[in-house]
Amino acid sequence: MKTRITELFGIQYPILQGGMHFVGLAELASAVSNAGGLGIITGLTQRTPELLAKEIARCREMTDKPFGVNLTFLPSVTPPDYPGYVKAIIDGGVKVVETAGNNPQKWLPALKEAGIKVIHKCTSVRHALKAEAIGCDAVSVDGFECGGHPGEDDVPNFILLPRAAEELKVPFVASGGMANARSLVAALSMGADGINMGTRFIATVEAPVHQNVKDAILAASELDTRLIMRSLRNTERVLINAGVERLLEKEKALGDKIKFEDIFPEVAGIYPKIMVEGQMDAGAWSCGMVAGLIHDIPTCKALIEGIMTEAEQIVRGRLVGMFDA
Ligand SMILES: Cc1cc2nc3c(=O)[nH]c(=O)nc-3n(C[C@H](O)[C@H](O)[C@H](O)COP(=O)(O)O)c2cc1C
Repeated sequence: MKTRITELFGIQYPILQGGMHFVGLAELASAVSNAGGLGIITGLTQRTPELLAKEIARCREMTDKPFGVNLTFLPSVTPPDYPGYVKAIIDGGVKVVETAGNNPQKWLPALKEAGIKVIHKCTSVRHALKAEAIGCDAVSVDGFECGGHPGEDDVPNFILLPRAAEELKVPFVASGGMANARSLVAALSMGADGINMGTRFIATVEAPVHQNVKDAILAASELDTRLIMRSLRNTERVLINAGVERLLEKEKALGDKIKFEDIFPEVAGIYPKIMVEGQMDAGAWSCGMVAGLIHDIPTCKALIEGIMTEAEQIVRGRLVGMFDA
């Protein structure tokens, strides 16, 4: 398939794997890229720029296809060594960077000079337009359904994507709630040039996470995510578990007076406990409503090829058939 996104990134299919803390390691990124999509290593999961450089080198040993690195800009008292991470990306010869969390303007000149394509992930049309204005090559438009941080506007993709299509000139991918061929065809219909999937890619053979995480996604329905940290204006969509229930009780009790310190035990240092140790009640971890559409654990190749084959059947069989009838 050829879209503006496949052309921009030099990939076979317009399917991206979004950066995911403690999931986006070389195993998953290379599997997605080898299957014809764009795999993405999560920069900040590597504790130092040196470790990121090693992870990039490891990924390159596993694939000769393009892959990207996610750089998430977090509000933080002691920010990570972003200049070091950017240098590791450039020195590692990475050709695509997915930015998220905050305006990436400060880092664009260095990335652009190195010939790196930048796709910025954001949750509103105004932020997408800003990303376009500052020179990002593409945007990942993340709807309210998404796992992770959906922002504070709560606009689902059935509105957000066609709104983005009305306004944007740069290509964009639909992110949040994407799982299968129906998602891809719908996203393309709404003006996107591809899709970005997070939660769906966790339930794959190659995702380097504990089996309990994959099983939890399979067991979950579309009703099993919760929004946390709303009153801290840092809303996150997570899978319900005992730790999240504890956190929600605190939010209810403390209301607007809540401080980050109050929920520290349920949100800090949780990812290794979940993703590595499989302690599924440890606390909050991002998960999309799309869990309700995930019923199997395929290889990335089977997943991506299945999506492409079925998408063609939907378009040529179902849709064209309806017009021709
Ligand atoms: C477990 C998990 C961890 C994530 N970590 C990050 C992250 O570190 N940085 C980031 O930009 N997005 C992160 N995301 C968001 C994804 O990249 C993607 O935008 C989102 O999952 C799309 O929604 P979906 O889950 O419905 O496909 C994470 C998502 C999940 C499920």
